[in-house]
Amino acid sequence: AGPTHEYIDPVRFLSNPSSGKMGFEIARAAWYRGAEVTLVSGPVSLVPPAGVSVVNVTSAQQMYEACMDEAADADIIIKAAAVGDFRVQEESAQKIKRKKGEDLVLSLVQNRDIAAELGRVKKPGQILVGFAAETQDLAANAQKKMASKNLDIIAVNDVLAKGVGFACDTNSITVMARGCPDVKCSGGKDEVADALLDAVLRSKTRG
Ligand code: PMT
Repeated sequence: AGPTHEYIDPVRFLSNPSSGKMGFEIARAAWYRGAEVTLVSGPVSLVPPAGVSVVNVTSAQQMYEACMDEAADADIIIKAAAVGDFRVQEESAQKIKRKKGEDLVLSLVQNRDIAAELGRVKKPGQILVGFAAETQDLAANAQKKMASKNLDIIAVNDVLAKGVGFACDTNSITVMARGCPDVKCSGGKDEVADALLDAVLRSKTRG
């Protein structure tokens, strides 16, 4: 769940507007259903659901390590986090000072794709669920992500739409699963989390 912070210097970072609400609601819904849940979360200001074991991380690299540590024991992995795709090539140990008339040019390198790596090492029977935060060509882009990351299920949300995606209490997703008709769900993030878990269980029964 949540964003990652990719630090530029001790007081600045690159990030995105993810609040963690979607991931936390999925964790809560799974726990209500009796699952043993580990929630790997980037920096958010939410109270974790009771009964859920939480691993707090800051950067995409830390999230990668935490997810890979937990993955082997998981029956179902759901990647709702908005992971930073880039980090600065070299984080400055000191606060970068403004110099008169000089622009600051950052050189960015790619972070690892956690979902793709989880897809690569997926165990037989394990279900890997991703999200796709899209602004155009939703279905086509989601299908591409599902294939390239070896996901079993993807929940695509149009993050330009009002009341959808980042930092709001509601969401609207289309759940795409291999060999199943698409399922749409809109409502509070708690309702959307439940609908997503229903889709996961349907695919588990079928598989
Ligand atoms: O946190 P909220 O405010 O509640 O907002 C919810 C949300 C908008 C963050 C959520 O609904 C959502 O869409 N999460 C995925 C955001 C995202 O980064 O999507 P993406 O299309 O860029 O990535 C596709 C998938 O790959 C995602 O499952 C993502 O977690 C994963 N990924 C991406 C990059 C990366 N380096 N590693 C990854 O694992």
